[in-house]
Amino acid sequence: MARLRTAILISGRGSNMQALIESCRAPSAPAEIVLVLSNHPDAAGLAHAAQAGVSTAVVDHRSYPDRAAFDAGLDRRLGAAGAEFLCLAGFMRLLTPAFVERWRDRMINIHPSLLPAFPGLDTHARALAAGARFHGCTVHFVRFETDTGPIIAQAVLPVQPADTPDSLAARVLVLEHRLYPQALTWVAEGRVRIEGDRTIVSGAVVPPSVLLNPEWPEK
Ligand code: GRF
Repeated sequence: MARLRTAILISGRGSNMQALIESCRAPSAPAEIVLVLSNHPDAAGLAHAAQAGVSTAVVDHRSYPDRAAFDAGLDRRLGAAGAEFLCLAGFMRLLTPAFVERWRDRMINIHPSLLPAFPGLDTHARALAAGARFHGCTVHFVRFETDTGPIIAQAVLPVQPADTPDSLAARVLVLEHRLYPQALTWVAEGRVRIEGDRTIVSGAVVPPSVLLNPEWPEK
């Protein structure tokens, strides 16, 4: 079966990007990473991607007069790479409705909270301040409102009394690096069906240490 031609959009460190690249390295992987694209020329992830032998590109938002022009520039570069599917991985630009619509159901994101709780920034500090007992991360299809869209997968961990935003961020990041490749694999295998505001994942074998929801997966 043809592999899903996937581009990863980053703005910085790119540790989730690295996890995705690693998981797609095997020729038998259902997705292949055809491009890593950053809006920042100095994003650390670009060097890691190049080292891993993945094509990279920079579409610098500062070179464009407005968001629509920037998004059109992104789209041109993605088209040139033959990308069919997008993974946002720490991509820190708001996308226009036109771009989101164009890539509807073909663009996913990872967010460091259990959505719909704590969309936006500073999720770990906000989870602690709210006294949340559990925290984690979410992979979801992208809709226009920030950090919304049908949820594909979540990974959960208990909050410890001694946790700080940094300690929580570090533990959640470990989960992110396992969850995002798993979610991309499911999508690329054609297991994920969108029904309204939710998704159905069929036939997936789930490592229980990542996904603690006993209901998972739905058949
Ligand atoms: C991650 O925590 C991700 O969930 C969020 O931004 C961060 C990016 O980190 N969207 P990295 O660049 O993947 O290391």
